[in-house]
Amino acid sequence: MTESQAARILIVDSEPQTSMILSGWLEAEGCECVFAGDVDEASERLEQGGFSVLLADIAIPEKSGLEWVAKIKEGHSDVGVIMVAGAEDRKKVIEFLKVGAYGFVAKPLDQDEVILQVANAIERNRLLLASQQVQTNGQPSVQIGRREENTILRLVWAAECRDEATGDHIRRMGLYSGGLAEALGWDQQSVENIRLAATMHDIGKIGIADGILLRAERLTSEEFSVLKRHTEMGARILEGSDIPMLQMARDIALCHHERWDGSGYSQGLAAEEIPESARIVAILDVYDALSHPRVYRPSHPKDEVTAIMEDGRGKHFDPRIFDVFLEVKPILQSIRKQVEEEGTPF
Ligand SMILES: [Fe+2]
Ligand SMILES: [Fe+2]
Repeated sequence: MTESQAARILIVDSEPQTSMILSGWLEAEGCECVFAGDVDEASERLEQGGFSVLLADIAIPEKSGLEWVAKIKEGHSDVGVIMVAGAEDRKKVIEFLKVGAYGFVAKPLDQDEVILQVANAIERNRLLLASQQVQTNGQPSVQIGRREENTILRLVWAAECRDEATGDHIRRMGLYSGGLAEALGWDQQSVENIRLAATMHDIGKIGIADGILLRAERLTSEEFSVLKRHTEMGARILEGSDIPMLQMARDIALCHHERWDGSGYSQGLAAEEIPESARIVAILDVYDALSHPRVYRPSHPKDEVTAIMEDGRGKHFDPRIFDVFLEVKPILQSIRKQVEEEGTPF
């Protein structure tokens, strides 16, 4: 029996003879056996922890026995409960399996069958504990996080590649927003959320015709009102999720062109009616747009960018967030440099 060297087995049986047989076989396989004469004693021992498997005689009182096994499933789901049953106990066994018992062994007991069942339950216990441990260490979520981020960036870029040649704007927006949110004192999870959510701010542009989206000349007011609809389209793409990151992405998509003084679009929200995430993205979107050339104009020099933006403090931009933005500008500049150097390593 592999992996059973340190396995502790709890045997609940009122017949000492059966317990002796079971423990004889299992200890020969390297298991450590602990005995309990009834359900109460077994519960106490279970609370001490460290058991992989519980072998219980099906003769424990049926009603309370079923409740007890169901309770073990809740509190000690990693412990595999194996019922020891006679051939006439078939129906009872099914009831126990229904409430969460892992398996059963039939009397008269067969050594190979017992060892095999117990070995399987030990393996299951080992896998469950290992998976709990990795979850605590955060490794799978880190891996899923990386996979998720990579997929999002590629899809967002696919949606925006008509007017974003490299996808760098998307990456910068994510990293800038995370940096500014952190400086504003956001908790780590929310910082992670905005780092992804901000990349989706313009996802609704997927629904805007090339003739308007890529126009180098000034748009007519009609064309501009079509372009403005990218906010609502983005919200429609992202809404209805119960995932906080996507809920934030929806708010950002809908509100990133709102202005602090209420003169923005698409709903004309003002001040704190605008979600904080969208107020952050609003500043950084303008900052990034002014810092880089557009089809209709070259980029502005660094100092000019700040001077132009300062005019929007308290009008376009939330003044409190704007002040923190000014403080973290050196960080944003190093992010910009880092994205430039890395190219687009999605
Ligand atoms: Fe936008
Ligand atoms: Fe943008």
